[in-house]
Amino acid sequence: MTPPSLYGALDVGNHRVLALIAEVNERAELLIRGVGVAPSAGMRNGQVVQLKPVVAAIRTAVEEAELMAKTPIESVWAATAGTFVSGRLTRATVPLGPREREVTARDLEQLHQAVQRQPLPPAHMVLNVMTHAYGLDDQEGLLDPLEMVGRQLSMDAYVLACQESPVRTLEKAINQAGLKVEEFLFTPVAAALATLTADERRLGSLVIDIGFGNTSYAAFAGDRLVAAGCFPIGGNKVNDDLVHRFHTTAAGAEKAKRQAGTMLLGEIDAEETVQLPTIDGRGHHIASRLDMNKIIRLRMLETFELVAADLLRQSSEDSTATGVVLVGGGSHLEGIAALAEEVFVKRCRLGEMEGVADTTQLLANSELPSRSSAAAVGLLAYASRARLPAMPTVHVRAGRASMLSRMVRKLLAKKGVDR
Ligand SMILES: Nc1ncnc2c1ncn2[C@@H]1O[C@H](COP(=O)(O)OP(=O)(O)OP(=O)(O)O)[C@@H](O)[C@H]1O
Ligand SMILES: [Mg+2]
Repeated sequence: MTPPSLYGALDVGNHRVLALIAEVNERAELLIRGVGVAPSAGMRNGQVVQLKPVVAAIRTAVEEAELMAKTPIESVWAATAGTFVSGRLTRATVPLGPREREVTARDLEQLHQAVQRQPLPPAHMVLNVMTHAYGLDDQEGLLDPLEMVGRQLSMDAYVLACQESPVRTLEKAINQAGLKVEEFLFTPVAAALATLTADERRLGSLVIDIGFGNTSYAAFAGDRLVAAGCFPIGGNKVNDDLVHRFHTTAAGAEKAKRQAGTMLLGEIDAEETVQLPTIDGRGHHIASRLDMNKIIRLRMLETFELVAADLLRQSSEDSTATGVVLVGGGSHLEGIAALAEEVFVKRCRLGEMEGVADTTQLLANSELPSRSSAAAVGLLAYASRARLPAMPTVHVRAGRASMLSRMVRKLLAKKGVDR
């Protein structure tokens, strides 16, 4: 059995599967003990499209993490994201009776059940309920109405609902890899837990997770989740654009993007060139670096504009008051924060794990782009907070980073993945 002080987090991404194992010590600090990464296969835009390779990748990542942590785990908190998840603000109400009386734990339970029972399209289910505040008769904004007196209890929440089948299938893959799922959490919400400071959550912030197959976002204001969504666009689409424009390979596009990609077009010399392999991989094209980056910029611009429009549709609150935080592998593109500042007209920063203190030298030093791990680290914060009264701080055992790099390198070489 997984000991009660151990937590497993699993982010089955479209590009890589990341498994983390952490332990809460006697000082209520969360220490990451194991990290496992495997190249993803069988996933598309957050959905399992082929079960077996997904199960195998999960197994590889989890076994790697278990080996490093020197302990097996039985269950995980898992992230999920796709266009099959959508959210909205909801209000649920429970009458307490004709006369005023005290709110009991049973009433609160009924209220939470009422939120779960809200009308949904066929084959949909509630994924996460992010409670905002309770109301008692005309009193609004209560944090804990237990034992307060009134006639009608209500609750405002942001409810994330999803199509049942993609999430159940992902759960099945995780089960087949030998693990139970404690809970699913929408990826950008998890990423926000790892990156936003308490002030940013209170004053308003937008977290955008730019992945391989998806870009998802979560907006917080007044300590509440006020908007969230996902678009099937990520680094993969950028590579596709380059493949079509320059008749190159996906691996060649990825390499050129990482080596010569930048959103700071003004800093590129018009004479600069990049080398891209021909589609058959036998020769090379020479392309203008400026042309390549104009193409990348267009796709990233479109992505941010989609997020901005959806955010505006969902939330009238200024949920970007303190700014925008970028995470995910795609946030490693040079100058991406400047582009986000242009679109959102807000300060933008790259999301180091600030919501969880003193984080992950291990992850930052690994070959995994450091901000790719935001959702998984957020899952650990969420999981341990579910069991602990206070938010734990995260530490990573020193001196293990090189071991991780070696393992990841070996693993990826074995799988023949060009990263
Ligand atoms: N230096 C870089 N410049 C630009 N893009 C990068 C860089 N490093 C990584 N990426 C991109 O990050 C993406 C992978 O991101 P991430 O590791 O967050 O994937 P994932 O979580 O598996 O994907 P998803 O969130 O879609 O499930 C790839 O598309 C890759 O091109
Ligand atoms: Mg991701």
